[in-house]
Amino acid sequence: MLEIKNLVIEYKEVRAVDSVNLKVKSGEFIAVIGSSGSGKSSLMKSINLLVKPKSGSIKLDNKEMTDLSSKDLRLMRRKIGFIFQDYNLIDRLSVIENVLTGRLGYKSSLKSLLGIFSKEEYEKAQKALEKVGLLEKSFVRGSELSGGQKQRVAIAKVLVQEPNLILADEPVASLDINSSKIIIEYFKKINEEQGITVIINIHDVNIALKYADRIIALKKGKIVFDNKRSEITDDILRSIYEV
Ligand SMILES: Nc1ncnc2c1ncn2[C@@H]1O[C@H](COP(=O)(O)OP(=O)(O)OP(=O)(O)O)[C@@H](O)[C@H]1O
Ligand SMILES: [Mg+2]
Repeated sequence: MLEIKNLVIEYKEVRAVDSVNLKVKSGEFIAVIGSSGSGKSSLMKSINLLVKPKSGSIKLDNKEMTDLSSKDLRLMRRKIGFIFQDYNLIDRLSVIENVLTGRLGYKSSLKSLLGIFSKEEYEKAQKALEKVGLLEKSFVRGSELSGGQKQRVAIAKVLVQEPNLILADEPVASLDINSSKIIIEYFKKINEEQGITVIINIHDVNIALKYADRIIALKKGKIVFDNKRSEITDDILRSIYEV
C-alpha cells in the first residue's frame, strides 16, 4: 500500500531523512525506533506531506503523493489517520464533538463551518467511542480527561475518518506504562480487527518489541534495521542507539 523510494528530507543544512527505501503491505503493524533526532517524525510526516521531501518518491495506493493536486491530496489525507503525542483535541469541545471533527475531511466547507453532522456520523462517532471504551464520556469536555483518555479520544477521532493507514508519532510518550499499554493495545486491536495498517514511532523499545510484527530502526536518517522483531538482537539494539 505504501512504497517509499530514495526519500530525502532536508531542513536547511540538516539532512533528516537520507535515501530511505521502504515498502509497507496492507495490514502490517510496524514500529519505527531510533534515538532522538534520527528522523522518525520527519519520515512519518512526509507520508501525508506534512513535511515536503527534497527528493524521492512516496507512493500510497500507487499514487505519487508528491504529484497530487491540493484536492487529491485532501482526498488521500482523509484515508490517513495521524495521531500526535499531545493528542490534538479541542479542549472546549465535548468528547463526541472532538470525535466528529474526524469527519471534517468528508464535508463541504460550509457544513464543516456550521458543524453539521448527520445521524450516521453521530452513530459512527458513538461506535468509535465505544471501541475505545469511552462512550460514557461522550458529553464531557476534552479538558476534563486524563492523558490516556485524551489519546483514546484521538484514536476514536481517527477511526471515524475510516482510514486505511494510521500513523502515530510517539502516541504514548506522555503517558505512564499502564496507559501506554492500553493505548498500544487499542492500536493492535484496530489493526487486527479492521485490517488497518498501523505505523507507530516509539522510543520505548520494549513496547515496540512486544507489539509490532516488524521493526524499522532509523539512525541519522538512514534505515539501519528493517525486519521481523524476532531478528532483533541486543547487539543490533546497541548499534542502533550508540552515537
Ligand atoms: N522543523 C525543523 N527545522 C529544522 N530542523 C528540523 C526540523 N524538524 C526536525 N529537524 C531536524 O531533523 C532531524 C530529525 O528530526 P526528527 O524530528 O525527524 O527526529 P525524531 O527521530 O522524530 O526525534 P525525536 O525522537 O526527538 O522525536 C533532527 O536533526 C532535527 O533537529
Ligand atoms: Mg519525533
